[in-house]
Amino acid sequence: MSEKKVLVVLGATGTQGGAVLRYLVRHEPNTFTLRGITRNPASQASRDVQALGVDVVKADNDNLASLKAALSGATHMFANTDSNQHIFYAMKYPEVLGPGETPLTYARGIEMQQGRNIVEALAATESLERVVWSTLASPAKWSEGKYVNVTMFDTKEAIADLFWAEEKLKGKVSMVIVGFYLTNALKMPELQAPKKCQQPDGVFELALLSSGDVPYPHVDVDADLGSWVSALFQAEAGITLVGASEMLTWKEWLQLWAGRNGVQARYRQALIDESATGIMKAVQEEFQFVDEYGLAGGNPKVIHPADVAAEQRY
Ligand SMILES: NC(=O)c1ccc[n+]([C@@H]2O[C@H](COP(=O)([O-])OP(=O)(O)OC[C@H]3O[C@@H](n4cnc5c(N)ncnc54)[C@H](OP(=O)(O)O)[C@@H]3O)[C@@H](O)[C@H]2O)c1
Repeated sequence: MSEKKVLVVLGATGTQGGAVLRYLVRHEPNTFTLRGITRNPASQASRDVQALGVDVVKADNDNLASLKAALSGATHMFANTDSNQHIFYAMKYPEVLGPGETPLTYARGIEMQQGRNIVEALAATESLERVVWSTLASPAKWSEGKYVNVTMFDTKEAIADLFWAEEKLKGKVSMVIVGFYLTNALKMPELQAPKKCQQPDGVFELALLSSGDVPYPHVDVDADLGSWVSALFQAEAGITLVGASEMLTWKEWLQLWAGRNGVQARYRQALIDESATGIMKAVQEEFQFVDEYGLAGGNPKVIHPADVAAEQRY
C-alpha cells in the first residue's frame, strides 16, 4: 500500500484553510495525512481542527525557522496569508507606523515578508511535490496604475510572483483566486450587507460601487474551496483558477438574499466618495477594479469557471 501524502495547511483555523481541511477529511480521507498550522495550538479553533483528526502544529509566518519545521516531510501545501489583521492592527495602534507609512503600506510590508518566508520554507522542503497559493490579482498592475490603493490584492500577486520565480518550486505551483465570500454580508455587514432604508417604504437597499450588472465570482468557501484545491493538486501544475461557486451580479445576489429573507430589496450603485482614504478607499477601488477588469484583472493566463465547464477538465 502506498504511503499517504502529507498536506500542510496554513491558516488551518481560518476560513480558507479550515474549509480545505474539512473538505479533505470528509471527501478524501485516504489521500493525505493532514497537518494544520496555527500560532496557538491551545485555542478553541485549534482544538476544533484537531478534533477533525488533523495534526496541529505551532508555527508563525513571521518566523522562517518555525515554518521550515512545520513543513518537515510535507508533500503538499495549501497556503494563504491574512492581510486584514495587520491593517486593523495599525489602525488601532497608529504608533506602530513608521514615517510616511499608512495602515495599508504597513500591512503590505508585513504580508510581503510573510510571503517571502513561506516561499523560502517551501523551497527548502525537499519532499515537496505541490503547493496551492491562494492569491488575488493586482489592481495596480492590471489597471496600469489606475487603481493603486487595493494593496491587499497587490501584495497577494507580488507573493505569487515570488512563487513563480523560485527555481526550486518550478513545476510544483498552482494558484486559486478566491472570489467574494458569501459570508461577507454577515461578517462585514458595514461593507457588504443590505440595509433597511429610512424612507417610508422601508425596503432593504444594497449600495455598492459596482454597477450591479457585472457578474462577480461569489464563493461558498466551506462548500467549494477544498474541491478546487484538490483538483489543482491533481491537474498539471502552473494553473491559476478563479474560484467561483456561482457568478452573480450584485442585483442577482440581492434578489436571492431578499427572497430567502422574505423581504423587498433594491440595488443602488453607490457614489464614489472622493474623500475616502485608507481601507475605505481600497474597498471602493476593489469594486471599481472588478467591475472594469474582472477579479483576475484580465490576466489571459487565468482559468475561469466557464473555461473549466467548457473543457470539462475536472
Ligand atoms: N473576504 C473575502 O471575500 C475574501 C476573498 C478572497 C480572499 N480573501 C483574503 O483572505 C485572506 C484571509 O483568509 P481567511 O479568510 O482564511 O482568514 P481568517 O479566517 O481571518 O483566518 C486567518 C488565518 O491565518 C492564520 N494566521 C494569521 N496570522 C498568522 C501568522 N502570522 N502565522 C501563521 N498563521 C497565521 C490564523 O491562524 P491562528 O490565528 O490560529 O494562528 C488563521 O487560521 C485575506 O488576506 C483576504 O484578502 C478574502
